[in-house]
Amino acid sequence: MVRINAAGGPLTGVSSGLLAVGLHKDESIPQELGGAAASILDEDFSGKEGETALIYAPEGLAAGRLLLVGLGERAAFTLEKLRRAAATAARRARALKLDEASFALPLPEGSGTHEAAEAAAEGAALGLYSFDRYKTNAESRELDTLTLISDDEGATAAGAASGVKLAAAALLARDLANEPSNAATPEYLAGKAREIAERYGMEATVLDRAGIEAEGLTGLATVGRSATNEPRFIVLEHHKDEDGAPPIVLVGKAVTFDSGGISIKPSSGMQDMKYDMSGGAAVLGVMEAVGALDLPLNVVALVPATENLPGGNAFKPGDVLELHSGKTVEIVTTDAEGRLILADALSYARRYQPAAVVDCATLTGACHVALGDHASGLMGNDDDLISEIQAAGEAAGERAWPLPLFEEYTEQIKGNTADLKNSGGRYGGALTAGAFLKEFTDYPWAHLDIAGTAYSSMQKNAYTPKGASGTPARLLVEFLRGRSGDSRAGDREEA
Ligand code: BES
Ligand code: MN
Ligand code: ZN
Repeated sequence: MVRINAAGGPLTGVSSGLLAVGLHKDESIPQELGGAAASILDEDFSGKEGETALIYAPEGLAAGRLLLVGLGERAAFTLEKLRRAAATAARRARALKLDEASFALPLPEGSGTHEAAEAAAEGAALGLYSFDRYKTNAESRELDTLTLISDDEGATAAGAASGVKLAAAALLARDLANEPSNAATPEYLAGKAREIAERYGMEATVLDRAGIEAEGLTGLATVGRSATNEPRFIVLEHHKDEDGAPPIVLVGKAVTFDSGGISIKPSSGMQDMKYDMSGGAAVLGVMEAVGALDLPLNVVALVPATENLPGGNAFKPGDVLELHSGKTVEIVTTDAEGRLILADALSYARRYQPAAVVDCATLTGACHVALGDHASGLMGNDDDLISEIQAAGEAAGERAWPLPLFEEYTEQIKGNTADLKNSGGRYGGALTAGAFLKEFTDYPWAHLDIAGTAYSSMQKNAYTPKGASGTPARLLVEFLRGRSGDSRAGDREEA
């Protein structure tokens, strides 16, 4: 990953291969750069968001190149826009085959240096990501170092250090989710969890097929029954709060490939179902950051991991299962498998008497239809927790938007021959899925449906390339930081 350094000004003395300077819309070029940017015509650069202009051998500057980066209107400039501007600068430097570059740190109104440096580092590290480990002759040109220039080197260095850790959470999530299902098997994810545990002194427990059955995780055992790559139930525990303080439990769906099972999906687009473990990938990414930031909290990650395949031993529509909680479910479609494995994990979570449980899952195509790819669906049984998650998403640049869990949705999934059925039909699909999960919770709980946000076939913004986005890893880290009293809001008060 790119190294992010901090240095002081003045900008004229920065002797980088490239110095990137952000400019707001319709504002004049700062005096110290006046000569250097004199050749830029007004029509060529207006400071519009995302716009860039490159100047070689800028007059009066020690840097080899000056890159102007549009920041948009000053009043509308936020930490999220700063992430994107930093990503734009870093990616341009890499495209120019430079090893190092500098970026003059702009401060959004009301933001301190620490949090701005954090956002810039986060954006640059995320923006430089690409998944090319399977390209045998990929030209791997990396930007080694990005230096943030500001007048508070200490705060910038500290902010950049934590920004890099936040980015690392999302980058691990992206790496895991981008891996094809022949590599990223349930056991592969378990191995990654063990590595994280080893690195940070966490406790890892991995149940294999026999352990899953013995524990009564019937949903997970049943979905994984016909797969040769065996299911795993992955538990990671980070104990850094007082003993006995109720933990926060994170649950991530990890269907490493969702064919739909006997209710098989159409073949077109099926390759994207390797991403159906994005929730689990995000949760493991979060645990990496929890360890790296050494958050003073008790946090438990639960990742039910399995393939969903057809086969002679596969579960079938019409089957009835007794899940971990004791509730029975009638299978309407084997393609509604995520809620079965999540139901088991949510009921397993009860043993912790958790302060809060947040699950994330690529659960329904309906959620993608409802919100597009601009927000994850947010549901739950506790309005305060929902608001907290929504705010964390806003701060992290990973939006989540509340959707209702009216009683009527629960009615829609009452079973004919069992307590519940695993599909409520086409209409309100994201909500009936959420209502299903709710049946297995008896603690403050929120659910993020990330079917629309976890991956994309196109580059979404300067720091979100195509493929896996890592969402909602950074949202969840932000939520946990808030719980540990070290939020961005906290930084703002200090500044
Ligand atoms: N993994 C899918 C949901 C999904 C679909 C994620 C598209 C990302 C993109 C999930 O297991 C599923 O198949 N859901 C069904 C539920 C239905 C059968 C009740 C769906 O959304 O169609
Ligand atoms: Mn499915
Ligand atoms: Zn699925």
